[in-house]
Amino acid sequence: MNSIKNRFLDLYALLCYHDYLYHVLNMPILSDLEYDFLLQKFYSLRKKYVYLTNVVNNNGSVFPQLNYDTCNKHYTPMLSLENTFDVNGYIKFHNNIKNNFIDLKVNFFCELKFDGVALSLLYQNGKLIRALTRGDGVFGEDVTKNARVINNVPLILIGNNIPQLMEVRGEVCMLKRDLNQLNSVVGKKNQKIFLNTRNAAAGSLRQKNIAITKSRNLFFYCYGCNIITRFQRYSTHSNQLNMLVKFGFLISPYVLLSSNVNKILNFYYLMQKVRNFLSLNTDGIVVKVDSIELQTRLSYTNKFPKWAIAIKFISQFAKTKLLGVDFQIGRSGIITPVAILEPILLSGAIIKKASLYNKHEIEKLNLFVNDTVVVHRIGDVIPKIQSVISCDRLHHANKIIFPKYCPSCNSLLYNNINDTIVQCLAGVNCLEQKKKQIEHFFSKNGLYAEGLSTGIIKQLILNGYIKKPVDCFKLQFQSLLQLKYFGKKSVAKLLHTLEQCKKTTLSKFIYALGIPEIGVENANLIAKYFHSLDNIMNCTITDLQKIKHIGNICASYFYNFINSKYNIEYITQLIVEGGITFIDQSKCIINNKNNYFLNKKIVLTGKFQTYKRSNIIKIVLSLGGIVSSNISKNTDILIVGSSPGQKVINASRLNIKLMLESDICKIFKNNNFVTM
Ligand code: IVH
Repeated sequence: MNSIKNRFLDLYALLCYHDYLYHVLNMPILSDLEYDFLLQKFYSLRKKYVYLTNVVNNNGSVFPQLNYDTCNKHYTPMLSLENTFDVNGYIKFHNNIKNNFIDLKVNFFCELKFDGVALSLLYQNGKLIRALTRGDGVFGEDVTKNARVINNVPLILIGNNIPQLMEVRGEVCMLKRDLNQLNSVVGKKNQKIFLNTRNAAAGSLRQKNIAITKSRNLFFYCYGCNIITRFQRYSTHSNQLNMLVKFGFLISPYVLLSSNVNKILNFYYLMQKVRNFLSLNTDGIVVKVDSIELQTRLSYTNKFPKWAIAIKFISQFAKTKLLGVDFQIGRSGIITPVAILEPILLSGAIIKKASLYNKHEIEKLNLFVNDTVVVHRIGDVIPKIQSVISCDRLHHANKIIFPKYCPSCNSLLYNNINDTIVQCLAGVNCLEQKKKQIEHFFSKNGLYAEGLSTGIIKQLILNGYIKKPVDCFKLQFQSLLQLKYFGKKSVAKLLHTLEQCKKTTLSKFIYALGIPEIGVENANLIAKYFHSLDNIMNCTITDLQKIKHIGNICASYFYNFINSKYNIEYITQLIVEGGITFIDQSKCIINNKNNYFLNKKIVLTGKFQTYKRSNIIKIVLSLGGIVSSNISKNTDILIVGSSPGQKVINASRLNIKLMLESDICKIFKNNNFVTM
């Protein structure tokens, strides 16, 4: 019970913090998607455990009580929208509504979800008398003076049957071209540029100097209204929008009225396709039940109308410049080309690099330095160059050519038959491979020497102190002191860490060897099967093939590795000269029934308060977890600290279990790990 409450309070604190950044400092660090995701978690917890509503405050509001003037109260609260990130979420919503009204034909009205700032305009007898931002949904901030200078906010309504008192709701937006223009002006003045049209619209609307608001060329897109003194009743949302157009408001022309789920999804796909060509930013579509009567019957939750949903768009495309291609050398010498891009904001993250996979991809794209390229994110996550705008190419531009020689050691590269693999065969004679091999050996799932960074490894290699992992165990205090940035304390710490990591498990040792195809799981299987290094070194290929889940390719890679003369010597040196000893695997993993981490693949995101990140990793590893840096479909748990990154979104898409700091604290406590 308590852990749920703690989790709830953690989420609440996190949301308050991001609200503060957004509403007060105007400096959000989470994308909308990330914020919405946290909010969804918060609501679903509160829905599940109703008693939590009173834990936060009496009205159950998520937002910190901002000090708005009481007269700035909205007549009707400004609610949020339920979000879905995929079409399945929509289908569920759609069917649910249909099931509520089995005998009726339910029409749905689809419109764009404008990516701007919500604004509520109050009209009395057709005259604009007040404009409020959304604020906490109940009270808003008065921006009447600013709203009056927005291009298309009608000061006086035109037409007939104008209601006596009416709140008109919509979004203040900045057009994409105006953002570019604004950024080029603020950039020249060395001021901070705006990351997106929403931030720019928010900043422009809340200016003290209304001349600045006026100069920013904002637009108000209307998406609904509340008629407070009902002069005339409207039976549908679409009729209401038509009325608003007649009064002089701007609505988006991209709308659809339909009762058919496929037509609605097609509208979503179509808008997703054309969104980059629109003059304003949109991050999804909103689908609303058209009939006002059915809306009233469906009613509201605390935060959302039950008759509307936003379906968020997934991948976006953006143009940027290809600065060059980095040919990265992997641990086994395979060369992977990586495009270096002029940083660009795409689906809420700044993209600087994109993998080009192999030689074929480079040839297919026909890349030249400084080309304008179109980038997108596969599954809204992995950056990829989709195409090149070759007509923008500069004269005398340099073509990107896959190297013939290793960029690190200059040896002739090997190409496989169909050119899909290009490899440097120099092995540990190649500085990059040597560095990667040592890095891998001491990585989190290997022997884990915390603090032995890539930079230090490179320095140690370049100064001739190490050539292979075993050399790290022979490092001397005095010689390390000669290195740049090394003081007595840091040298002592590093030597202590290296001493500690000599005591390891057989499976970590096997993983650390860096044999192709032998990741954490296969290393575990092999260690469990053979129990000792001796048994492993004397095994036959058939022994290996007998291990459940170890395929033939994997078995032969492993067998060839441990039977090469060079590797036998390499392993012997590690044991004899390096002093590596094995602790019993089963003893070092705490088999507690509350141990969520055993054999689970775990990723961390954000900052942690109770435990240091590195200590969380250590504890998770000692509880038998497998830690990796990136989310994949195989990840089991994402541990979320404060200010989490994009990983939360990626994890939510893949339905990965999320655990907050309070959750893991509880598990650690159960296993007697003290706070660090
Ligand atoms: S309807 C009660 N329609 O999205 C229904 N909202 O995430 C509330 N938004 O604060 C809103 N485009 O400012 C609606 N076509 C649209 C919208 C839209 C953008 C904003 C709105 C709201 C936020 C909720």
